[in-house]
Amino acid sequence: MTEAQRTPLIAGNWKMNFDHLQAIAFVQKLAWMLGDAKHDFDDVEVAVFPPFTDLRSVQTLVQADKLPIAYGGQDLSTHALGAYTGEISGRFLKKLDCTYCIVGHSERRYRHVESDETVAAKTKAALEAELVPLICVGETAKDLERHEPSAVPANQLRGALLDVKPGTDFVVAYEPVWAIGSGAPATPEQAQNVASVLRRVIAQSLDEETAAKTRILYGGSVKPDNIVGFMKCPDIDGALVGTASLDVDAFASIVRYKKHATY
Ligand code: 13P
Repeated sequence: MTEAQRTPLIAGNWKMNFDHLQAIAFVQKLAWMLGDAKHDFDDVEVAVFPPFTDLRSVQTLVQADKLPIAYGGQDLSTHALGAYTGEISGRFLKKLDCTYCIVGHSERRYRHVESDETVAAKTKAALEAELVPLICVGETAKDLERHEPSAVPANQLRGALLDVKPGTDFVVAYEPVWAIGSGAPATPEQAQNVASVLRRVIAQSLDEETAAKTRILYGGSVKPDNIVGFMKCPDIDGALVGTASLDVDAFASIVRYKKHATY
């Protein structure tokens, strides 16, 4: 599979924003705007990652109105069921028809001290629940002082893929921690360099075919005015958007990047 055959994915990670009523209003407006603009969802896939408490409302809306918008959880438990107060099973997310689940977001790695082993266990748990894991990797500014840019993300990805079999459907998001919420994104060149290393890691850990079909997203201060630069990179197949995914005009504009691209 080549770059041209991988369907780009524009994903909005809402983090801890929007209650379920705001979620419904946002998804309705997004679907209306993209529908009005005749967006081809088979050409560029759209997904949102709301807080857990919004997912049932998003599911009801998406199914009632047959909206071509995918959704997923922002995290999941390493366990399927049991005495784990406050945790959410991948099975519950699957029951709400989630397609995806984010694992290993840097805010979980650093604020909740999730190790590479935990991220590997969450990747496995997502796959066991038949969810597509969206595995986040990325280096901090401190990591950059000590290592070359791809070293930490490549290691994190190797760790996450330990229990993954060739042919498995998963998505990788390269999110340099220093670029998240900073307004200072990586350059397309920086992102492409790391993305190409990550694709090689998939080939080495799994096989060439899996590496060729896997979508690698860039995340970190993605905005309507910089998305095109990232989407021109041969190893970047979409974006994981934080701040700009909360503004429906900005997010719809990012989804419609082909309309403002001069290729
Ligand atoms: P920002 O787009 O706000 O930089 O967030 C990126 C991110 O963390 C998405 O998961």
